Amino acid sequence: MKITITPARRLAGEIRVPGDKSISHRSIMLGSIARGDTYITHFLMSDDCLSTILAFKQMGVPIEITGPETVTVKGQGLRGLKAPNATIDAGNSGTTARLLAGLLSGQSFSSTITGDESLRRRPMDRVIIPLRKMGADISGVQDRYLPLSIKGGTLKGIQYHMPVASAQVKSCLILATLYADSPSRIYEPTSSRNHTELMLQAFGGRLDINGNEITAYPADQLYGQQVHVPGDISSAAFFITAGLLVPNSTIILKGVGLNPTRTGILEVYKEMGGSIAIENVSTSGGEKMGDIIVNTSHLKGTVIGGQLIPRLIDEIPVIALAATQAEGTTTIKDAQELKVKESDRIATVVDILSRLGASIEATDDGMVIHGPTPLKGNAVDSFGDHRLAMMAAIAGLIARGETTISGWECVNISFPGFYDMLKKLQN
Ligand code: S3P
Repeated sequence: MKITITPARRLAGEIRVPGDKSISHRSIMLGSIARGDTYITHFLMSDDCLSTILAFKQMGVPIEITGPETVTVKGQGLRGLKAPNATIDAGNSGTTARLLAGLLSGQSFSSTITGDESLRRRPMDRVIIPLRKMGADISGVQDRYLPLSIKGGTLKGIQYHMPVASAQVKSCLILATLYADSPSRIYEPTSSRNHTELMLQAFGGRLDINGNEITAYPADQLYGQQVHVPGDISSAAFFITAGLLVPNSTIILKGVGLNPTRTGILEVYKEMGGSIAIENVSTSGGEKMGDIIVNTSHLKGTVIGGQLIPRLIDEIPVIALAATQAEGTTTIKDAQELKVKESDRIATVVDILSRLGASIEATDDGMVIHGPTPLKGNAVDSFGDHRLAMMAAIAGLIARGETTISGWECVNISFPGFYDMLKKLQN
């Protein structure tokens, strides 16, 4: 499917972006292995999260979608999952595949996880290697790719220094350790999102956290909870950027997740001169949330790297777009992980923004952008990557003429309703 975006004169209004994808996945997973019911509100009803729901339904968990954003999970207890009736298909979702790999390694049955063409190209050795150290019987294609075959069995805790900061790997190991006979100690090179840690503790699990060192413990039982999912800052990122770039705009984003492991984009935009204010801050289940108010701003270039990268990794495509409109040079470095996302996001971001007239070069670990450059509408492809499709749509709002985006349907991976929300702000 193809869409065409034309320039916007201004954007104004109040929106509530859909629920956080990472937190939505975890609410289904922990709800399924807890005892008792878990009631989830503001759940992200998107393709990725539906892959997780389907996986647990296949393992005998009654999961009821009770409204457009509400789900009830009838938890089966820590040892209550049943052997899946077929191969589990994680679709496009790295979080589903990698977290499930850990969870399934500790079960008393065998299972297989596969995914779509993009996910089958993404590295799984990052979970296979430490899970094998825990004693898991797990194998993949070339020891690196999906499908993964897992023969569940007894696990032992490990000490593991993660080579890359990855919340998916960390969470995989925390979930596997729930079923192990001893604790695991996990060291992260820099902090990644901590949603698993926060939610597991709310469900009654035990963790000791000391900076980047996490001790995960085996569990006897977890207990069902009420989970309110904050708005996804990675989805909000598109509208925050649009608000900064489109002239005469003011956008209010209600109830966005503000977990400090995710707010790198706000710090970067403020540093670049962006007018961004936060109001009505609250906390639920350990997760901070609040309203974000953004106004059109004159931006200047910056350097983004080091410990900031895991705190804004999914927002880099749209930050790169903002950088094309900033005065001076923006350098994004230490971001090699972009190459193994839903697409090679160094190559694909550079491709799309170059086609729209930006001055941008790929580097080994990121990109360099010179601004400001007026953008010109053109035909671009999403590369099947939801975050690129939406970045291109925001670019289309400030580009001269028409921007056509093919492969638009992938926005349903994380943000069904994106287009309608964009239209609403133009009225
Ligand atoms: C996620 C972790 C990040 C992020 C992904 C979601 C998660 O991936 O890019 O979109 O839910 O844990 P990595 O763990 O590979 O960094």
